[in-house]
Amino acid sequence: MTPPSPLCPNPMQVHSIQQETADVWTLNLINPDVYLYQPGQFALVSIRNSEDTLRAYTLSSSPGLSRFISLSVRRLPEGSGSNWLTQEVKPGDVLWLSDAQGDFSCVQHPSDRYLMLAAGCGVTPIMSMCRWLVANRPQCDIRVIYNVRTLADVIFADEWQDLCTAHPQLQLTLIAKQSTQSGLLNGRISAPFLQQVAPDITERVVMACGSELYMQQIEQLCTQLGVPASRFHKEQFHTSAEQSDASNESLTLRIGQPLREFRVPVGSTLLAALEAHKLPVLAACRAGVCGSCKTRIVAGHYTTSSTMTLTPAEIEQGYVLACSCQLQGDATLA
Ligand code: FES
Repeated sequence: MTPPSPLCPNPMQVHSIQQETADVWTLNLINPDVYLYQPGQFALVSIRNSEDTLRAYTLSSSPGLSRFISLSVRRLPEGSGSNWLTQEVKPGDVLWLSDAQGDFSCVQHPSDRYLMLAAGCGVTPIMSMCRWLVANRPQCDIRVIYNVRTLADVIFADEWQDLCTAHPQLQLTLIAKQSTQSGLLNGRISAPFLQQVAPDITERVVMACGSELYMQQIEQLCTQLGVPASRFHKEQFHTSAEQSDASNESLTLRIGQPLREFRVPVGSTLLAALEAHKLPVLAACRAGVCGSCKTRIVAGHYTTSSTMTLTPAEIEQGYVLACSCQLQGDATLA
């Protein structure tokens, strides 16, 4: 079999698909070869086995413990990748995966005490790591705070209960914005709440995964509480479908010869801005991993959440990954 993309050389057959919540499914894959990965890492998946549409998903299984390689996918209403994987793919189909990627893994950030923070589908790498830690580092003290909308949105609910019962060193706290259901704490995460769950938070490795907005809040709280930056780790990839952080203010994006100008919201990604104005841009993974959306900004104010495929010289010259570049002020592209 020929891989659809050189980035995704690993064919895996779908063994089974199970629904976790109303909008999350787990695909269990049979891997015919050795597939090396660390708990918490992710893989790119070739969507519809095409060369130019790749999406990043966490490997929710745990190496050495899980029977299958598993992907847990939240269906996004407009998500071409998540809709295909959760609604069209069937057992027996073959998916093509990249090698495992990313540094959001407890293996790369060893500690004997963790505070794991997750919101929504961000719990998938956290489960992968917790399952692995209790089996391989049983002396480890792990506190997990998991933000959900309602009890029905808890992914891996039964497994969490079994793991916490069997391994008292793993403590899970569920928290919901608005709920009167038993088993759920009401409210938002705050500095006092983090201190209550983990009074020794500055001694712990903190790992957070959720929406960009959620992680910004968590990072601010952890900084406020004195967690050293070297002990704070967050999942770095986001999809443009999750661009909820764009503001009502707008900026000017200037492009090409002859120069054209477009108004785009402050905070939107360069990729979202280009696509909104139907400007040609290649974007295979939309996750700051494949490098296909490399673009040069000659002047402007922006931040980046991934420069994974760029060299220091390219970054110096103004190259960015459009999917991982947030426009903060007027900008001009080469
Ligand atoms: S689309 Fe892959 S890095 Fe941007």
